[in-house]
Amino acid sequence: MRCIACGAVGEEGAKSVRCAQCGDLLEVVYPGWKTSSGTRAAGLDAAGLKQLWQQRRTSWNALDESGVWRFREILPALHDWNQVITLREGNTPVYALPSCGRAAGVDQLFAKHQGMNPTGSFKDTGMTAAASFARQGGFRWVACASTGNTSASMAAYAARAGMRSLVLIPQGQITWGKLSQALDYGAVTCQLKTDFDGCMRVLDEVVQRMPVYLLNSVNPYRLEGQKTAAVELLERFDWQPPDHIIVPGGNLGNSSAIGKALLEMKELGLIASLPKLSVIQAEGANALVRTMRETGGKKLISVQAETLATAIKIGSPASWKKAVRVLEATGGAVEQVSEVEMALAKAEIGADGIGCEPASAVTLAGLKKLVKQGFVKKNESVVLILTGNLLKDPDFTLKFHRGDLFAGTEHPEEAAEVLAPRQRAPMVLDASANAVVKVLERAEQTDPRK
Ligand code: F0G
Repeated sequence: MRCIACGAVGEEGAKSVRCAQCGDLLEVVYPGWKTSSGTRAAGLDAAGLKQLWQQRRTSWNALDESGVWRFREILPALHDWNQVITLREGNTPVYALPSCGRAAGVDQLFAKHQGMNPTGSFKDTGMTAAASFARQGGFRWVACASTGNTSASMAAYAARAGMRSLVLIPQGQITWGKLSQALDYGAVTCQLKTDFDGCMRVLDEVVQRMPVYLLNSVNPYRLEGQKTAAVELLERFDWQPPDHIIVPGGNLGNSSAIGKALLEMKELGLIASLPKLSVIQAEGANALVRTMRETGGKKLISVQAETLATAIKIGSPASWKKAVRVLEATGGAVEQVSEVEMALAKAEIGADGIGCEPASAVTLAGLKKLVKQGFVKKNESVVLILTGNLLKDPDFTLKFHRGDLFAGTEHPEEAAEVLAPRQRAPMVLDASANAVVKVLERAEQTDPRK
């Protein structure tokens, strides 16, 4: 374990998640990979790793069935592999998105859908790792501040391991779907009268006073597990990396994890070139965008976050330094999108039969801008990381289709014009076949695909 700011080296499995010297974030490093016979993980070279990981795909061993632990050679090792808590996370699909590709202006567009994880978001891949280390460390309690998905995931993994979980969420600012998951999995759930950043501050104090293990993405083991989304993706492309990978940015743990994976896969010789990793934020929660544009990534500019994508309503992202590093290392871009652009992109992804939550849709909206700017070329291959399942936030989707998502905001007219062709409000009819047949005939006449 090494501090990202002062470089101080801490113990592996250390109970603190921050540097004891300067308080900054820690990261897991693998000094043992550099050997006299080249770079190797667990004694295996690139060809050996590829073959072993491939072989495990036909195994019924619980560790091999997990899309995280299948890659355990590049993850921190537990003293006892029986301590692993797994819900068979990972193994998520990669879908081609031809019509979204046409809308964005690229020939080869794919989505890696992390919303297909056991609790419906990418958080599970990190949580299996960090929760396993919590159990190995003998903790009875784990805790997080969350915009919803982390809490749902943490509560599930804690329950599987027989640990108690404490969730701090901003009151009235997370979706019912996510809140109900935390409750069902038995978390002690506190809705604080503040925003996500305020919840983080309170939790930082709580973990100093009580023996609870912090499972936010500042926890370095979370990011190790989340690396595997990128590894799976590269394996799926037969180790020929796409030109671009695009992720939504909130607390910036996920972009940091995916970037770390890309750099490590290059170091191990599994890939020859690096994809450009770009991060997209909502305009109203654009701390990283402002940090890059106004300080060149030197100093964090915090914002008062405001966006309908509650998952990424974060003003002071904890992992900003790690994210800046991977942006610079891979040559990726940062971009921001409006609420209307995000809503349209979400409907387009839905219309491709895929669906995702609002925060994930900023990736497609951002891609459109990156294509217009010439940063992404028409013939380049692009993968969007969709972070959450459509069912996480049905309220947003219903309001969108009923046309009241932007009622009472500053952009109702703009929204009406841009979004109307995508809206499919449910109809209330008399219980008669005639009424339904009429609707069917009208829908056929106005089919936009004709
Ligand atoms: N997409 C979704 C669906 C999320 O839930 C989050 C973060 C992000 C994107 C952003 O990822 O924070 O790693 O940059 N959700 C956290 C939570 C903060 O508490 O569930 P990030």
